[in-house]
Amino acid sequence: MIKVLFIGDVCGKPGRVAVTSAVHDLVRKEKIDVVITNVENSAHGRGATVETVNELMGAGVDFMTAGNHIWRRPDHVDLLSGDYPVIRALNYPEDLPGKGFGEVDLGGKGKLLVISLMGWAGMNERTITEPFRKIDEFLKGVDYDKYAGILIDFHAESTSEKVSFGLYVDGRVSAVVGTHTHVPTADERLLPQGSAYVTDTGMVGPMNSSLWVKKEIIFQQNMFPYSPRYDIEEEGPVRFDSVLIEIDSAKSAKSIRRINKVL
Ligand SMILES: [Fe+2]
Ligand SMILES: [Fe+2]
Repeated sequence: MIKVLFIGDVCGKPGRVAVTSAVHDLVRKEKIDVVITNVENSAHGRGATVETVNELMGAGVDFMTAGNHIWRRPDHVDLLSGDYPVIRALNYPEDLPGKGFGEVDLGGKGKLLVISLMGWAGMNERTITEPFRKIDEFLKGVDYDKYAGILIDFHAESTSEKVSFGLYVDGRVSAVVGTHTHVPTADERLLPQGSAYVTDTGMVGPMNSSLWVKKEIIFQQNMFPYSPRYDIEEEGPVRFDSVLIEIDSAKSAKSIRRINKVL
């Protein structure tokens, strides 16, 4: 059995500080084997840097996925070079830096395969290819005997695309966890064929913001025909959204439950 803590998109300094203060205790208390998070917003809300990734690794994060914002900073070249445990979505073109999957070696507990995919609907990412055929093609080449678990981070905007993607891969992976919207959904469950699923994990970021951006900026954006520069909310409470998944095979999970906190 592998116990995976998957944490929603970490947003800027408030998010990194919250991860640092929460993860070590959670790992001890819940006997967690591996901690994974999405780092696409870890550097002031936009992208990730070598420093933010190092900080999260120091906080107890073992492996990191990304999303549409990972390209915003030049550090993505180093972060996706293979020197860091960071992956980007599998359905970006092959000539972009990085890979869409990676392995976490859990010693006696075997290997966990982590895959990142991006949704299509409403993402405005012109270089992304359709994720359903992409995962079929990828899973065809996976040697299931090699893995104790397989987890997909499905980074997408549309709830219908996320739910249908979960059902599409049900019974072929251990878990599908959604990211990108920063708003946690209450639908975590085991799907009919045994895969764990949640539409969106949520985020670790400033609670009284708009997804991480200072609320006044988004008020303005909604009221005037121009877009002010985004800035992160650094004050106030921080929400910490995550799911704890018990994986019992490369094609199924035993349980999924939320661990949400306000820090
Ligand atoms: Fe995000
Ligand atoms: Fe995103």
